[in-house]
Amino acid sequence: MQFIDLKSQYQALKTGIDARIQQVLDHGQYIMGPEVAELEAALARLTGAKHCITVSSGTEALLIALMAEGIGPGHEVITTPFTFAATAETIVLAGAKPVYVDIRPGDCNIDPALIEAAITPATRAIMPVSLYGQVADMDEINAIAARHGLSVIEDAAQSFGASYKGRMSCNVSRIGATSFFPSKPLGCYGDGGALFTSDDALAQAMREIRVHGQSARYTHTRVGVGGRMDTLQCAVVLGKLERFEWEITQRKRLGDRYAELIQASGVPVELLDVASDRDCVWAQYTVKVDDRAAVIAALKEQGIPTAVHYPRPLHRQPAYERPDCPPTCFPHANRAADRVMSLPMSADLGDAEQQRVVEALVNAMATA
Ligand SMILES: Cc1ncc(COP(=O)(O)O)c(C=O)c1O
Repeated sequence: MQFIDLKSQYQALKTGIDARIQQVLDHGQYIMGPEVAELEAALARLTGAKHCITVSSGTEALLIALMAEGIGPGHEVITTPFTFAATAETIVLAGAKPVYVDIRPGDCNIDPALIEAAITPATRAIMPVSLYGQVADMDEINAIAARHGLSVIEDAAQSFGASYKGRMSCNVSRIGATSFFPSKPLGCYGDGGALFTSDDALAQAMREIRVHGQSARYTHTRVGVGGRMDTLQCAVVLGKLERFEWEITQRKRLGDRYAELIQASGVPVELLDVASDRDCVWAQYTVKVDDRAAVIAALKEQGIPTAVHYPRPLHRQPAYERPDCPPTCFPHANRAADRVMSLPMSADLGDAEQQRVVEALVNAMATA
């Protein structure tokens, strides 16, 4: 069994994806070819955001968003310590300081009740992460940001396709930034990402920063990056859009079914909370267990791959450790990092395969 089954997805979409790739090889516009604008229009429609700007990765998307907001040295950005490193990495690369706020234990997203206490005169933005595919508490976060004149950049690398109170992830704050890393809910065959906003000036700034800050050819109006998404990768994502809606429905169904099967088995596996006003697209199907190493080893013995997202929160990573947040800070992030474990998940996971994962989990819990 594979942790994420990208081969079955390709087999299902082969005709369309191959044709799209061939089209790019035929026209030869590898950089900023017509597929780039076509994908941007399709994704803007899908999310409801006015603008979509494709970029070279999810990491680059976050960095460009921060640069476009003028965030740099002397500024602070509030985020979660329980995320992939790229979230804090881009804040540091922009020259600013990540200020962590602990997560809520139930859903592992930033706890909005703790944000206001972390705001200082240097704060410029809040960067919540919609972890595992569930949008963070954006209404509360946007309200705090509005009260303090801050920007909100949703790190939606894991949540493309998720909905929140009837709106789509990436279109629930001033800026949404997603990733098309192959294993994400919408992935390409390499690196890729996208930015979303409905603010015209901000969209213009992000478009310029993506191409070395150029407002016209060889007119570098601002400092930028080489952050374009390849035409070939845009073509792949266009090919994947063919059944994206079905995939999202399937992911949600499989997430519900995992929860039902695990609960029915009675094993002491803690499930993530999903709020009733939003859904989760399960970029990873993550649960929490005690004695994780033994459970993972017992699953491996039964041929079930797992992964840990993430074993060490950012305030305990060598590159991001700081005296003002010692290892004991953020108890919920620390506890989650010790207990989370992700099970196989992809739209092509069969019901029988899923059943086998849960049976193996039940065995593993009995022997661990
Ligand atoms: C929460 C989060 N933020 C940012 C990123 C960075 O995305 P990418 O790998 O496309 O640079 C990822 C993906 O790995 C992620 O999971």
